[in-house]
Amino acid sequence: MLGTDLVHELHDWGDQVVALTRSDLDIRDPDACLAAVHGSDVVVNAAAWTDVDGAETAEGAAFAVNAVGAANLARACADASAVMVQVSTDYVFPGTAASPYPVNAFVQPLNAYGRTKAAAEWAVRAECPRSYVVRTAWLYGAHGRSFVATILRLAAGPDTVDVVDDQRGQPTWTVDLSRFVRSLVVAEEPFGVHHGTASGQTTWCGFAREIFAAAGFDPARVRPTTSERHPRPAARPAYSVLDNGDRLPAWGDGLNRALATWPASGI
Ligand SMILES: NC(=O)c1ccc[n+]([C@@H]2O[C@H](COP(=O)([O-])OP(=O)(O)OC[C@H]3O[C@@H](n4cnc5c(N)ncnc54)[C@H](OP(=O)(O)O)[C@@H]3O)[C@@H](O)[C@H]2O)c1
Repeated sequence: MLGTDLVHELHDWGDQVVALTRSDLDIRDPDACLAAVHGSDVVVNAAAWTDVDGAETAEGAAFAVNAVGAANLARACADASAVMVQVSTDYVFPGTAASPYPVNAFVQPLNAYGRTKAAAEWAVRAECPRSYVVRTAWLYGAHGRSFVATILRLAAGPDTVDVVDDQRGQPTWTVDLSRFVRSLVVAEEPFGVHHGTASGQTTWCGFAREIFAAAGFDPARVRPTTSERHPRPAARPAYSVLDNGDRLPAWGDGLNRALATWPASGI
């Protein structure tokens, strides 16, 4: 999902891009990473095991992609003198804070996926000091399965929709994140951890209502519910808001721009 929009954005800027899918490169293979990275100036790792609930019962397999795979790429980048961008997540934090998490806040994941992504952050920083770790959250884009696509599908039906209203976060459009990633590298911002989430904050329920409204449906059809009433295999942070210095556009603005370009196939 992110990778596709990232490639489009970079092409639009006139950058020379080599876009590798999983069938071109399995990042679990260290030798293949060395060969693939050779000759590159910048490598963005948008590959990951992203099945958060599935990782609870397959943490080893998720770790192999998210942590070992990222470490393989970081070692290859160091070998090739390339800058690396590792995409990380708000799920490295427990979500128990009452104000936005700064970049140096204590990392303490609640679930298996978060543990594998936290391990990746440390591995990438250790193996490739010329690297950016960009934590994003609640990502959606036209080229993947996302909350926005699900809600648009439900909105087109006749029913009311119950959505949890006790998790706060920052819905972030893949295109805005892609632009942010590029801007970090081009501006030669300091290496290390950066927060790449949309500005502002909302709940999943608030986000769903905004999607309904933006797509011309009645937002009152979205009813608030609690996480307790909809248990999932992996625990989710309740307060997943990152201090991002308002460097990305507001989440509602991103949503409206995204929907204006959303292809029918994305719904
Ligand atoms: N989605 C979110 O809400 C969210 C939130 C915070 C952070 N993130 C992070 O943002 C990044 C991009 O996520 P996304 O939502 O764009 O995920 P995505 O759509 O699931 O894309 C991940 C890609 O990684 C590929 N992949 C999996 N295992 C691989 C391997 N061993 N070698 C090479 N490629 C492999 C997948 O290929 P297959 O499809 O063939 O498996 C898929 O194309 C990830 O680092 C994710 O952790 C996402």
